[in-house]
Amino acid sequence: MATVDSSAPIAERPPRMSANPVKRVADDLAAEWRGRGSYPPGPSDFSFARTKQMARDPLPLLLGAYEEFGPIFSMRLLHTRVIFMLGPEANNFVTVGHPENFHWRESSFGDLIPLLGDGLLTIDDDYHDRARAIMLPAFHREQVEASTAAMTAEAGAALADLRPDTVVDVYAWMRRLAMRIAMRALLGLDPDDGGKGAVAAENFEEALGFFGIDFALRLLRGPGSPWRRLMAARAVLDQIVFTEIARRRGAPDSGRRDILSLLVEARGEAGERFTDTEIRDQVMTLMFAGHDTSTSTVTFALYELAHHPDVLERLCEEQDRVLGGEAPTIDQLERELPYLDMVVDEVLRLYPPAWIGPRRAVRDFEFGGYSVPRGAYVNYVSWASHRIPEVFPEPEAFVPERFTRERKAALPRGAYVPFGGGQRVCIGKRFGQLEVKLVTTMFLQRLRADALPGRTMTVRQMPTLSPRGGLQMRLRPRG
Ligand code: HEM
Repeated sequence: MATVDSSAPIAERPPRMSANPVKRVADDLAAEWRGRGSYPPGPSDFSFARTKQMARDPLPLLLGAYEEFGPIFSMRLLHTRVIFMLGPEANNFVTVGHPENFHWRESSFGDLIPLLGDGLLTIDDDYHDRARAIMLPAFHREQVEASTAAMTAEAGAALADLRPDTVVDVYAWMRRLAMRIAMRALLGLDPDDGGKGAVAAENFEEALGFFGIDFALRLLRGPGSPWRRLMAARAVLDQIVFTEIARRRGAPDSGRRDILSLLVEARGEAGERFTDTEIRDQVMTLMFAGHDTSTSTVTFALYELAHHPDVLERLCEEQDRVLGGEAPTIDQLERELPYLDMVVDEVLRLYPPAWIGPRRAVRDFEFGGYSVPRGAYVNYVSWASHRIPEVFPEPEAFVPERFTRERKAALPRGAYVPFGGGQRVCIGKRFGQLEVKLVTTMFLQRLRADALPGRTMTVRQMPTLSPRGGLQMRLRPRG
């Protein structure tokens, strides 16, 4: 029998957020005025240079402030004072110890809401916890296992396109592959049908482009502005996703294993289920959170391996011994390739793609002897925390041996947080790790990627870490 959409949301929905930039600036100034006097130490004067450096190359700024002020400090960026919390204790405080002090929704990343709506990333409190509970089964091992078939097929096809002795932008290559995997595994769309899959992929890329441009350009609202392009791409995506939801509601098929289908069928403990809009917001959020992150991790892994032939050799030796040239199974990826785990852990230490955990304090609290007022912007920053020398000696060096089982277990709590932690820990962690490990493995079973002489890579950080301008590498057959 066909099921119908229940029209009631799973819990009271969070208030709508204004997309008006002028109102946002006014709200920020009012919040700072209310909390005046009680900010942690740090430069509070307006500085265009500081704001620009934060947008361009934040690591030296953040690590310098950490050395000067300790694990909690503030600095004025644009018009507002922003608090940063760095290091194991701080990360643990925000994610595990006292998440009730914070909201994501009102954070500095609130401008994602016009695209994502009220998905897991942009909701808090009871509404977040209920939505997350309904979604969790879709990310259990057996469901993710179903996705690995799509990952393997897509990775095989993408690799067949690569020719040895050519120069390729491996970032662009992986981005296209990750998008195809997401289309199939998350939305259940065939990227080759020439229709919806391809259109959805194109419009999703267009929409993401908005979050990579300068803040000032994001404020424009007129015809032809980036904002209008974002809204147009969103309208196309909405149309596709709502049609897919209606199709599944009209003809339920328990054999479908894509995440969209699982969310249409999903029930909470009290039998509550998502409305169409809730499903739309959740899958859009999954697409956003899962796409760039896996793309960058594979790219940075290839970059580091090209510069560390000893690590590459050991990795390939493990691969040959365990897999003998066959595509890996989920069991092998999860249990039998420990050195691959260490390499990926180290890549995610140096380049955690979701590098900043944006929050807003929803109550006054204290940390490290300083008080933080309600309404303040607070961020934990894995990227900077992972480079604190007292926690990770010689932090700039790529050393997978830091992540042997014993050494990883001995790290202080909160030291290593590439997937966040606590009740907001990445829901796609298993999916993302498998995708990264599978693609990296299949790539190295066929090819080697060498750095181009004289080229250096710089990192761009918005909205997630990626190599600025892509990453050109020369391919050759594996030796
Ligand atoms: C290497 C790959 C990935 C990395 C490094 C990563 C990292 C993260 C981090 C750090 C957070 C927490 C952010 C915070 O505390 O503010 C997060 C949350 C999240 N991630 Fe991932 N992610 C990855 C892949 C994925 C994939 C593949 C998906 C979906 C299929 C996904 C979906 C999400 C969602 C929905 C959240 C929000 C969870 C919540 O607030 O309850 N991620 N991710």
